[in-house]
Amino acid sequence: MKVLVTGGTGYIGSHTCIELLERGYELVVFDSLVNSSEKVVDIVKSITGKDFKFYKCDMLDADGLEQIFEDNKFDSVVHFAGLKAVGESVEMPVKYYTNNICGTLNLLRLMEKYEVRNIVFSSSATVYGDVKTVPISEDFPLSATNPYGGTKLMIENILKDLFVSDNRFSVSILRYFNPIGAHISGRLGENPRGIPNNLMPYITQVAIGKLDYLRVFGDTYPTRDGTGVRDYIHVVDLAIGHIKALEKKTGIPGVHIYNLGTGIGYSVLEILHTMEEVCKKKIPYRIVSPRAGDIAQCYADASKALLELGWKAERGLKQMCEDSWRWQSMNPNGLE
Ligand code: NAD
Ligand code: UD1
Repeated sequence: MKVLVTGGTGYIGSHTCIELLERGYELVVFDSLVNSSEKVVDIVKSITGKDFKFYKCDMLDADGLEQIFEDNKFDSVVHFAGLKAVGESVEMPVKYYTNNICGTLNLLRLMEKYEVRNIVFSSSATVYGDVKTVPISEDFPLSATNPYGGTKLMIENILKDLFVSDNRFSVSILRYFNPIGAHISGRLGENPRGIPNNLMPYITQVAIGKLDYLRVFGDTYPTRDGTGVRDYIHVVDLAIGHIKALEKKTGIPGVHIYNLGTGIGYSVLEILHTMEEVCKKKIPYRIVSPRAGDIAQCYADASKALLELGWKAERGLKQMCEDSWRWQSMNPNGLE
């Protein structure tokens, strides 16, 4: 099967490319490199021993994108490309809507034109908005609490409408919970630019001495220890979820929606203490005010993915921390 991977040099895309190549899929990858490094292409080739075509292309460049469809015949598209920083999306909504929505529309227009009718899309648990109860199942109400979330929700709706207009399409919408961890080799991981916003890269940068201490955003939530609870999932488990969606849903018309999470929630302090065990040092932290827009807890009911895709996250918290730490220690400055 020949697959086009958009955003394939990014964090989740690159780990998915490895799993695809290792299972014999033929890949074409494109990325604008706005939030990733071209070095990832060689790292993925070297880890897998497999070759693939890479295009440096922005999905807003309709002609550049069309050239990729002219050059290759695809069976399916796995669509990761997009901007993902929540805070930045609040400051620059037009940039986010333009990039994520217009870029996706360019892609879908070409999929229609070149008759590629299978797509797997990177959605997010953010589409559940301000959830009131956990665990979260796929039929929970949807809402957006920031422009980034707005783009995910709109793209989901565009894909649903696409299927209504042409019911030969197979659309898989994967709603990720909180991906962390890295490839076991330590050569590939999350490569945030500047000071990280997300918990795990922040913790590992404190542990390695690049940042002074972790700010724990609030300790009075109604959770086990008062800190926020999330469903952290190993990026390789997440990557394998895409393989399952391709295996089970390619050529099966419909809109197939799955939560990809472990179903287990861990608090900020539980993550911090597990990382302390792994890196064998104290990680300084201070409790500060809650971050605007954060919810107390968020974890998945992942039973639909198990039932219909035969997929379940296998890697536990200790391994997620070990792999994140190995990546951080081997690449103190990321790939730059
Ligand atoms: P990432 O930033 O590492 O990867 C996204 C890639 O898309 C980057 O390499 C970037 O350069 C590329 N890109 C952005 N705009 C582009 C454009 N116009 N044209 C071509 N390439 C473009 O992020 P990630 O964590 O790997 O996320 C992948 C996808 O999963 C994104 O759509 C993101 O919104 C979604 N997602 C991520 C998380 C998470 O916590 N990481 C959670 C839920 C959903
Ligand atoms: C964030 C995004 C969400 C996105 C998800 C995955 C926000 C508000 N939400 O979710 O839309 O889908 O990333 O990319 O940005 N924490 C600290 N100190 C820190 C960083 C985080 O205490 O320095 C806490 C947070 O309060 C939260 C937990 O750690 O309880 C996880 O935070 P984070 O990694 O940013 O992910 P989310 O907020 O779940």
